[in-house]
Amino acid sequence: MSDYRIDILTLFPDSIRGVLGESILGRAAAKGILDIRCHQIRDYTENRQRQVDDYPYGGGWGQVMNAQPLKSCLDAALADADGLRTRVIYLSPQGQPFNQAKARQLKADYDHLVLVCGHYEGVDERFIEECVDEELSLGDFVLTGGEIAAMAVADCVCRMVPGVLADEQCYTGESHWDGLLEYPQYTRPEEWEGRKVPEVLLSGNHGEIEEWRRMQSLERTMKKRPDLFAAFEPDAADLKRIEHIKKQQNRRKLSEPLTCRKAEAADLGAIMEIVRQARNSLKKHRVDQWQGEYPTEELLRSDIENGVCHVLCYKQEIAAFLVLTPGPEEGYDELTDGKWHSEMPYAVAHRSAVKSDFRGTGTSKALLDAVETLAREMGATAVRTDTHRKNKAMKELLGKCGYRFAGNVMVTSEPGHDPRRQAFEKEL
Ligand SMILES: C[S@@+](CC[C@H](N)C(=O)[O-])C[C@H]1O[C@@H](n2cnc3c(N)ncnc32)[C@H](O)[C@@H]1O
Repeated sequence: MSDYRIDILTLFPDSIRGVLGESILGRAAAKGILDIRCHQIRDYTENRQRQVDDYPYGGGWGQVMNAQPLKSCLDAALADADGLRTRVIYLSPQGQPFNQAKARQLKADYDHLVLVCGHYEGVDERFIEECVDEELSLGDFVLTGGEIAAMAVADCVCRMVPGVLADEQCYTGESHWDGLLEYPQYTRPEEWEGRKVPEVLLSGNHGEIEEWRRMQSLERTMKKRPDLFAAFEPDAADLKRIEHIKKQQNRRKLSEPLTCRKAEAADLGAIMEIVRQARNSLKKHRVDQWQGEYPTEELLRSDIENGVCHVLCYKQEIAAFLVLTPGPEEGYDELTDGKWHSEMPYAVAHRSAVKSDFRGTGTSKALLDAVETLAREMGATAVRTDTHRKNKAMKELLGKCGYRFAGNVMVTSEPGHDPRRQAFEKEL
């Protein structure tokens, strides 16, 4: 005996056999896992013309399928189904919408489905009342006949029968299984028409790949199917992910490039506000950097007066600032645990920060690009800088922009706080 049986009552059995007899379901049927039977309703008529339909009582367009051949066909299909958990389903645009949850329930609660396909104007209502357990619809539209809907239901239910697909994960990991859409899929080549496969998928890091996929799944459900997303019940880990996605989405998108200019005295207020935000952010991330007075308003005022402070502007708004001076830098001579690779003339990137509204917009990268441009303009062949070892964001950015770790240095600018800094350099 097969693991799952489906009987389809139709006026077009060959069209169904053609589709369900092929490929994965066809192979599963050949192995005996599935038993899919198609019954010609016309074979059960009791009139010489083998007529299966008649005019509608009350007048109107089209023909209605008679109850008798349908009932006789159904009886024949059920003749050897004793002991099976059977569900008789009429495919109809008036039924409940069919979906994955319904398919799972049909697979779990029954081992035999009888799918009745209507045609013309539909079937005599008394057949539905008398014989049908449930009506299912493929969607809010009208098809010519129930065959396509029956094939969809049969296919969806059958692929969950053990042995039909290679592994349970083949269907449990797909869209709609847990209320979400699946993550995007890619295959070879790595680059096609200038479009690259996301790097994480090539990393071989399974943990990161899983995390990326879950994020994509949540994000695309949010975007493509807000109705599904509204019904989704996230666990604590997904709630965190959703919070992160929403934050990303709320980030502003820059429609114009940032411009760099020398800071002016009138910019000092905006720069100090950025310093305040950066101080809070470092505190939040438990980085003991900028947790005292440094960098003070007096220091930044003198940077501006000395012409070494620059601002990055978006439209009229100051998005970031940086202070760049020509070397040599006194404390950098005391480098330990490494050595500088660059020589004089080098430039030193001191204080810099990005306004919180501009985080995640590419402004940090633009800031380091500006540092390089300005360093070149001052004739430097390298840029040196330092940051706190726990300043993960800055260290990641430096790495991405081609800076290399050079060694450790001590700073004296922040008395009472951790003076240890890691030094980085980039040769231009
Ligand atoms: C033209 S339709 C009949 C529609 C019917 N007169 C009505 O308006 O509700 C003919 C047959 O196609 C099938 N059918 C049409 N749309 C369907 C849908 N959205 N889902 C499932 N079956 C559908 C049903 O079996 C139906 O009996």
